Amino acid sequence: MAQVLISSLRGILSHSRFILTLRSEQGKYHGLILFRLSPAPLGGQFPTESSEIASNRQIYVMEATCPHLGAEMSHADIEEYEDSVVAVCPWHRYDFDLKTGKSETGLRTCTYAVQVKPDPESGEEQILMEAPEGGTNWRVVELRPVSEEFADPAPPKSKSTNGAAVPYAQEANEPVTLMEWAVLILNTPNPTLKVERTRYAVHAFRTGTITSIGNKVAHPPVPPVQPPRETYMNYVEPGKIQSGKRKNRAWAFGPMHKDLPPAFFSDFSKVALDESKHLYVLAFHSLLRARLDSLSTPYGSLPVHASLWESASHTSTSLLSRLAIIHLVHEARGLDVNPKTIEKFRKAGDKESVDVLEVIHADEVTHVTAGHRWFMWMCEQKQKEQGLVVDPVWEFREEVRRCWRGDIKGPFNIEDREKAGMSREFYEDLKGEMPYTDAVDKERGPRMDMGSVRDALPEVRAEYEP
Ligand code: FES
Ligand SMILES: [Fe+2]
Ligand SMILES: [Fe+2]
Repeated sequence: MAQVLISSLRGILSHSRFILTLRSEQGKYHGLILFRLSPAPLGGQFPTESSEIASNRQIYVMEATCPHLGAEMSHADIEEYEDSVVAVCPWHRYDFDLKTGKSETGLRTCTYAVQVKPDPESGEEQILMEAPEGGTNWRVVELRPVSEEFADPAPPKSKSTNGAAVPYAQEANEPVTLMEWAVLILNTPNPTLKVERTRYAVHAFRTGTITSIGNKVAHPPVPPVQPPRETYMNYVEPGKIQSGKRKNRAWAFGPMHKDLPPAFFSDFSKVALDESKHLYVLAFHSLLRARLDSLSTPYGSLPVHASLWESASHTSTSLLSRLAIIHLVHEARGLDVNPKTIEKFRKAGDKESVDVLEVIHADEVTHVTAGHRWFMWMCEQKQKEQGLVVDPVWEFREEVRRCWRGDIKGPFNIEDREKAGMSREFYEDLKGEMPYTDAVDKERGPRMDMGSVRDALPEVRAEYEP
């Protein structure tokens, strides 16, 4: 039986559950959850006499999404019965046995045999799992603890400021679906409230308070043509500033595909949560804020550009283009640049900022991975719909040629790009040929043509509920 090396045993002692993403050599993705139910031993060492028996460690791997209607299982409750342990889905409370995957409802999820074995050379205990079907040479591309400090404990529904409660949304108009929350967040100019609303919405989605994704009404709320921002934030043309730029982006709304599964929304709500965390730590992190304040440049007072929004507007009619340009060009470029920034802070002896930026960089690798995962998925859909062979590398290069202006510039962070699924043939010797247009309003920044987004909104399914 083919196996996949997940991690050393030591590598999973910090948390009791992890999101585990695998990628095959064919570029297929598989999302899983790893549960470690046995308590971490004191000193980090399990007794060695039972080292071959993973069940003694109570380590289980199961599908990341519920087979009922696709909820993410990362926040499932774990309940123990006399002879079994079950994960209870946060959406409709179906329970699934962690060993067999069976549910009393008759549904079944896939579970995978786990083994703990000492590494033949180092002797260090390692966790291996049975390889999934449908691909070969699976490797781990992400092993992420679920209960990150930022997301846990749950954010409250409202926040008290100076004694006055400030709700995240007016009760009468409180969004009921994930996409309604996303529109509200995009329409929120205040960065602090934007971050808080994002934290609340993603947590509510993960824990089952929100169980609907798309739209339930004929005329759903639409995202803004351009996100409102506080008046102190100045827009300048892309390319006119060399540094100090800040993205005001937690949610990027985009073109849809009618068959998008809930796992897509889980991935991109995680991206939104990360981006809100980045905004939070960069804008409000005590050390960086203190430094900005000492330079008399509080957050938001430096000019910003909106090249990301410009790209969002150029790709508003095609999800394939959106994934290619935003995640596999813009965000992949971040992977090239971040290590140099981190190095500058390291040289300045600023360890606290280095730590913060390293967390951000690791998150960004997962954002490019999410872009690659769903770009590959879209290519597969295209292949099914058209009955033609679709080559993802050719598709990507074609998207860049149409929707990007100028060279895709190196030097490249080949290693981290590769981790995210971007092998060299995707991006080497690549040039965008998009012509210059008047689409960018020099006063107000790029403006999204919302026509196609508005038309696509009602198509997104809401019926991920009973
Ligand atoms: S029980 Fe999991 S989605 Fe319904
Ligand atoms: Fe970010
Ligand atoms: Fe990102």
